Amino acid sequence: MPEDRVIIFDTTLRDGEQAAGAAMTLEEKVEIARQLERLNVDVIEAGFAASSPGDFLAVQTIAGEIRTPVIASLAHANLAAVDRAGEALRGAEKPRIHVFLSSSDIHIMHQLRKNREEVMEMAVAAVERAKSYYDDIEFSPMDATRTEPDYLYALLEATINAGATTVNIPDTVGYTIPEEFARLLVGIRENVPNIGRAVMSVHCHNDLGLAVANSLAAVKVGVRQVEGCINGIGERAGNASLEEVIMSLATRSDYFGAGVGIDTTQLYRTSRLVSDITGFSVQPNKAIVGQNAFRHASGIHQDGVLKERATYEIMDPQAIGIPSSSLVLGKLSGRAGLRARLEELGYHLTQEDLDRAFQDFKELADRKREVTDRDLEALMSDRRRSDVELFSLDHVQVSCGDHEIPTATVRLIAPSGEVLTDAATGTGPVDAVYLAINRILRVSNTLKEFSIGAVTEGTDAIGDATIRIEKGGKVYTGRGSSTDIIVAAAKAYVNALNKLMALEGAPEAEAEAPAARA
Ligand code: KIV
Ligand code: ZN
Repeated sequence: MPEDRVIIFDTTLRDGEQAAGAAMTLEEKVEIARQLERLNVDVIEAGFAASSPGDFLAVQTIAGEIRTPVIASLAHANLAAVDRAGEALRGAEKPRIHVFLSSSDIHIMHQLRKNREEVMEMAVAAVERAKSYYDDIEFSPMDATRTEPDYLYALLEATINAGATTVNIPDTVGYTIPEEFARLLVGIRENVPNIGRAVMSVHCHNDLGLAVANSLAAVKVGVRQVEGCINGIGERAGNASLEEVIMSLATRSDYFGAGVGIDTTQLYRTSRLVSDITGFSVQPNKAIVGQNAFRHASGIHQDGVLKERATYEIMDPQAIGIPSSSLVLGKLSGRAGLRARLEELGYHLTQEDLDRAFQDFKELADRKREVTDRDLEALMSDRRRSDVELFSLDHVQVSCGDHEIPTATVRLIAPSGEVLTDAATGTGPVDAVYLAINRILRVSNTLKEFSIGAVTEGTDAIGDATIRIEKGGKVYTGRGSSTDIIVAAAKAYVNALNKLMALEGAPEAEAEAPAARA
């Protein structure tokens, strides 16, 4: 790796979570943070402490547990918000407060209803306050790419003088174009006299599909921190896709004259985890982590790769952590074979977890002749979800057909261990299951989206259900998988309701006992 290194700042847990429907529970955030630590990102933005008690707790918990990367909290440029961030980060080994304030006239006039001088004062005061907590302070002039350059230079100079050690240039609305962005960054370097005292960073949104290109153009002109999210999730069209930025820098360090300190073999696993938790699937042709990213379909390409991999592959799939063999397991496979396969997929299990995974695997292998990597990933995801759930699905039974009234009986186990059973009829089996669950949990919500897909080919494939429900303007995503698609749908719904309850507080079911309990 070249000596010059680009700092990778991950904001999956903050800007990524701002994507509609990406709300995550505390446990899910901590799990992603642990995986980001394995990936060896330099900075994890764990949340926006002042924005909600849930975000505060997420920043605080991650700050207390994750030791290697810097842990950042976003903060508005007001003293109370900075204080919340300062407090939430108290347990961090390497804390950073990230102060932001809009700097473009369009934001200053229409959103903040202030003037440039007032904004300058607010920014300086907030950075100074942040500096009273910690040394490592980042300042972002929001909507920087639509800010008048001379004002931007002055604002950056003032905030560096106030103590900012990183100045981040956000393309908040995804408006800029690589060459233009590079010129702006060179302008900053030439016109901000104290810029040498801060690391220059960029934060690009993908409204025109240019977030990665803009980030890389920035690195080419000397920027040394890039912000982004795994799988490119985030507000609207998302943020720069970190796996693409990382692999571009790792593969073309000759061009950029800079590398990264990332364990790229963790990229695939990180992408799967984020997709699994958010319910945002990764498109098959997605660079780096898409299912087809390393699949050669044309005969000429296959011939070339078989003779010499480098003929059509610029990266080694193993460098991204994509499993090297497509070995399949079956019902005669043993614990050792399962462990080896799971390890290759990036799951390092304790003996107890392996025993449980083996039990799930055996049940699946009884129903399905071949158990592939995709099946194992689905099993592990299902196990991960059920381990952190408040209410768990214990039993589903449906009766349906063209001359039947679809009827479902559902049994859930409450956190207290109480067994809750109810039944309902519906327009179809899934509807009946959902109505039966509603009768038990009584959590009002609106169904926004329901989809079911097969994890692998074949009629015996595992079905993977995704559901999005809405309550109070917030969208909660649930997922579930099973060889029985009705069970998968039931698991997904219970998963979404569990998330809603974890983020919104006690279920209505606990306040009022449902009619039919076993
Ligand atoms: O897009 C943006 O401007 C942001 C800032 C808070 C850095 O997310
Ligand atoms: Zn952003």
